[in-house]
Amino acid sequence: MRVLKDLFDNNRRWAARIKAQDPAFFQTLSQQQSPQYLWIGCADSRVPANEIVDMLPGEIFVHRNIANVVVHTDLNCLSVIQYAVEVLKVKHIIVCGHYGCGGIQAALENTDHGLIDNWLRHIQDVYRYHQAEVDAAPDKEARQRLLCELNVVEQVANVCHTTIVQNAWKAGQQLAVHGWIYGIDDGILKDLNVCTTGLAEISATHRLR
Ligand code: CO
Repeated sequence: MRVLKDLFDNNRRWAARIKAQDPAFFQTLSQQQSPQYLWIGCADSRVPANEIVDMLPGEIFVHRNIANVVVHTDLNCLSVIQYAVEVLKVKHIIVCGHYGCGGIQAALENTDHGLIDNWLRHIQDVYRYHQAEVDAAPDKEARQRLLCELNVVEQVANVCHTTIVQNAWKAGQQLAVHGWIYGIDDGILKDLNVCTTGLAEISATHRLR
């Protein structure tokens, strides 16, 4: 109970396997990290960032929370974005949602889940912005899938509206913000084609002067 032996056994095997492929791997990584990507995804255990895109430690900077939400005043998420953009100088920020997201389902169902309802309120805002479109979907499954996608689209906009991303663009930094969705039933990623690469592509209401 106090020592999770299985996990330590797994760890030793994993580290040995990596070292067998590349004896200097951990030593090299310990000197620095220079990932090209920031991943903002759901905390769901079925959506592990590195595994999905088959990348090693050092290749992706990751922030995960329930239902991959980017809240304007979330210091945790904003700090991750700032560090990734200003210090690591990532070239891409990927907001990745997934179908079958429990957070999205809960937001649509409107049942009482305690504290987390306050977090899910941000997803209900997304629903409210697109209510006619979501309600027009043929069934519950389709409504959920659509809201999963729309949530990604809105969170991509929220990333772009941060002062961090806008100031990076103003300074001429090359930075693309992408919106993807992942199928937990087939392991396949889909690009939602909302890639945003500069100030001219965001809403005038949010654009910094
Ligand atoms: Co989820």
